[in-house]
Formats: sequence, structure tokens, C-alpha cells
Amino acid sequence: MIDLRSDTVTTPTEGMWDAMYKAPVGDDVFGEDPGLKALEEKIARLFGMEGGVFVPSGTMGNQIGLKVHTQPADEVIIDENAHIYHSEGAAGGLISGIQLRPVRGERGVLTAAQVNAAVREQNDWDPHSRVVALENTSNKGGGTCYPLETIREIFHFTREKELALHLDGARIWNAAVATGTQLADYGSLCDTISVCFSKGLGAPVGSMLLGSRDVIKKARRFRKILGGGMRQAGMLAAAASYAVDHHYEKLEHDHRKAKKLAETVVSSPFFEVEPSHVETNIVLFRVIRGSVENALAWFLSQDVAMIPFGENTIRATFHFQISESDLEKAMRAVASYKGE
Ligand SMILES: Cc1ncc(COP(=O)(O)O)c(C=O)c1O
Repeated sequence: MIDLRSDTVTTPTEGMWDAMYKAPVGDDVFGEDPGLKALEEKIARLFGMEGGVFVPSGTMGNQIGLKVHTQPADEVIIDENAHIYHSEGAAGGLISGIQLRPVRGERGVLTAAQVNAAVREQNDWDPHSRVVALENTSNKGGGTCYPLETIREIFHFTREKELALHLDGARIWNAAVATGTQLADYGSLCDTISVCFSKGLGAPVGSMLLGSRDVIKKARRFRKILGGGMRQAGMLAAAASYAVDHHYEKLEHDHRKAKKLAETVVSSPFFEVEPSHVETNIVLFRVIRGSVENALAWFLSQDVAMIPFGENTIRATFHFQISESDLEKAMRAVASYKGE
């Protein structure tokens, strides 16, 4: 099965298993797991930030990121396509007592002017604008990247208005590769960044929240409260570290393959895609004749799995375990689709 449903479906390679098997471990709640400590330092250094805390999931990274910046009844300005808004079970309300203010960006990307327009008046009745949360790349936007300049403008604006800037960087690695941006440039413009090792990088589990020393101290406490304090998690740190060292550089191939699939999609009379919108490893395409269900069933009959992704839309996501011949098979499955 050629699994293009998500970049979360990868399984550990032999090298990664080996690194996990050999990982030194200790009790991380006591601060004694050497591998985990080393990973936190290594990733913080990569992003030029003061510290990091390893968490089980991107959702927990985001939610702790919001928690450290807010008080109950605060508001977070966010794109209407964001994962935090759609896919984290309204956790911001449950955990932090906050409200999200969705804003319509362009394929998941906001401008400083849009953020500006969403900030509330300071009075006794408006919610208190407190955080701007960006997502880079934007999953529902189709793997879109923020231009660094846009993040910089938003950053300056947040400083002026005394807002915090959180970045959901589940796929920040893809954004960095696609735009040729240094990870430390993102780090210099954000108060907190949540990064995932378990998307295109291919680790089985794990994310990290990055921020200042003070923020990370607070974040550690919230992680424990939320049940995210793990004990001998060094084996997960070993997988994450291996993923950064060995798979980060492979992401550009995923992006190239996604673009190639889009070229096939665009020449089918049944589908619609704008190839220039494919910026990273995600291809979103619309079904313009026939149904999403039929198209997905046809692909599956050709041994290719994709997923429905919003109205009349299908998502195909590339990762390093999709080979060139897998790509060709997927292209043939798209090209041979004949409708109902
Ligand atoms: C953009 C984005 N942020 C956060 C997450 C959450 O990650 P996790 O599934 O590890 O909680 C995802 C998951 O797909 C995502 O796509």
C-alpha cells in the first residue's frame, strides 16, 4: 500500500530502531534522562532559543504554548484553517479558558494587517487579545509557507501591542527547507514554537515546545499537570534526534514528489489543482467531476491511499518512505481515473 494519507504514517527505520535500542535512559520527571536533556538542548540551539521541553504530541506542545501566555478569558488570534482551531478538540477552552478568534487568511497564512484588524479595543467588555498563533506550514492551507518577512512584520506588531507570538511549527522543517530559511530565524521572531518530530521527519512519537528559559520552566510544570511527564523517554529522544540528523535533509525530495503528483493531477479532467500552490509535501486537489468517495476508492483499488480533506477535496501527503516508484504508481492511479 502506498500510503499518502499523512506524513505521520512513517515507521522507524533500522537505523532509528538501533538508536532507540542503544539510548541511555533515566527518569525524566526527575530530570535524569540524558538523551532527552541532550535533545532539548540540541533543538533549542538549532532554533536559537533558550530552552525546550519534550512533549508527547504537537497538540500538547500547542496547548502548553497557549497556556503559558494566557489567563482565562484571554483571546488568541489565529487563522481560520489552523489545527489549533479545528483539530485540538477546543482544548484552549478546556485547559486555558481562552477564546480563539479565527481570521480568514490566504491558504492558512495571515498578514500583519489582518492580525492588526483582529486586535480588540482595550475596555471592560472586549475579550483581551493576548496571543497571535501562526501555523507554518499550514496543513489545511495545503502545506503553505509563511514568507519570513510576513512573520517579521507580525512579530514587530505583536511587540508593539504586547502580544505573544506562538508558532505551530509541526511542519516548520518543511517550511525551512522550501523557503531556504534558517531555523534560528524563526526562533528569533517567536515567543514559543511547537515543533513535531513525528510528521515528515519520521520519528514515531514526540514534539517539543521551545521558548525562553522562564517560559520553558512554566511549560514543564503544565506538561506534568497534563500527564505528559514521561519517565525513561530517552528512547523517544533518540528517535527524534535520529530523525533530525538523517531525515531533515530528505524533505526536499518529498516536496519535489508532491509537485510531480500535482502535475499529473492538473492534466486530469476530473480534478483541479493550482500547481504553484504546492509548496511543500502536501497536495490538496479538488474533485470537479464525480465524487471524492469514488476517486478515493479508485486510488485504493490501485494500491494508493489518500484522504478526504474538506469539501470536494482530497489530500495526498509525501514522506521519506514514499519511493520514486511509489510516486509513479500514484501518478498512474490519478491519470487512469475515469470518473464514476
Ligand atoms: C499543523 C499541525 N499542528 C499540530 C498537529 C498536532 O500534532 P499531534 O497529532 O502530534 O498532536 C498536527 C497534526 O497533524 C498538525 O498538522
